[in-house]
Amino acid sequence: MTRIAVIGAGTMGHGIAYVAAVSGHETVLNDTDPAALDTAGRRVRDTLDGGVKRGKLTAELAAQALGRLKLEASLERAVDGVDLAVEAIVEDLSIKQQLFRRLDSLAPPGAILATNTSSLSVSRLAEATRRPERVAGMHFFNPVHVMKLVEIVRHPGTAADVVLRLQQLALQMGKDAIVVRDSPGFASSRLGIALGLEAMRMLEEGVASAADIDKALELGYGHPMGPLKTTDLVGLDVRLAIADYLHRELAAPHFAPPGILRDKVRAGELGKKTGKGFYEWQTTPSS
Ligand code: NAI
Repeated sequence: MTRIAVIGAGTMGHGIAYVAAVSGHETVLNDTDPAALDTAGRRVRDTLDGGVKRGKLTAELAAQALGRLKLEASLERAVDGVDLAVEAIVEDLSIKQQLFRRLDSLAPPGAILATNTSSLSVSRLAEATRRPERVAGMHFFNPVHVMKLVEIVRHPGTAADVVLRLQQLALQMGKDAIVVRDSPGFASSRLGIALGLEAMRMLEEGVASAADIDKALELGYGHPMGPLKTTDLVGLDVRLAIADYLHRELAAPHFAPPGILRDKVRAGELGKKTGKGFYEWQTTPSS
């Protein structure tokens, strides 16, 4: 068993804490915002209840998982004695670097410090610590309890045993892991954003409706969800930030965010979380 701290209790952090606790690990979830911690606790309980109702886990296992999960407002207490800390706070390099500096001074010397960043440089986060060899990416997907992939990102200094340990952990969590070199957007975000931006350009050019562009990939290529619907779920603001970053870092013209994406973000149409993105959202999308 491993003791795991998850820092940041939002969309991703509560999900990572859920899979960590369900797979048998002592888990501590931390956030600077007490309201976010409360909400995360409720969301974990709802997901456990849903799992029991659908027969995915027994009531006894759900109760044990809940018993293994602690909500903790103090970072110092959250990382006390941990083997692994997974960072899932806002996608901003300098804020993440500040946190990694603190994690380095508070977590036990041998602990692995992992980031759930979708695109940012893991090397730059490792540089903020005195243990770069124990720093790696552990990138989960949304919703965490459903999506099978964990993308493990190794920077040039990541120790081999750290990669191995994260691969084992991902397996224990019921996930499939891929190992990727630290480069902008890794494998998953670079591919996902490329497809998403092309779909937006096609919508701008009037090639087809949002629903039909999505269907082209869903029914034509067996993708479970089209790129525009995916963008609505992830958040248009999140995808714009990643596209800007990839455009800058990779100097590739096809990562230039299309006008329609900038316009929608400016208008506050951020996807499911605001009720409108490329689709209108009640409980199910409609174009
Ligand atoms: P979110 O905005 O839902 O949650 C972030 C949480 O971090 C908030 O509750 C905030 O209060 C907390 N926080 C901010 N600074 C903190 C600090 N210094 N210490 C502790 N807590 C702090 O964000 P979300 O969507 O969960 O994203 C988190 C990370 O996961 C980002 O790096 C993002 O790129 C990545 N990611 C997001 C995915 C998504 O679909 N939303 C998918 C995969 C990765």
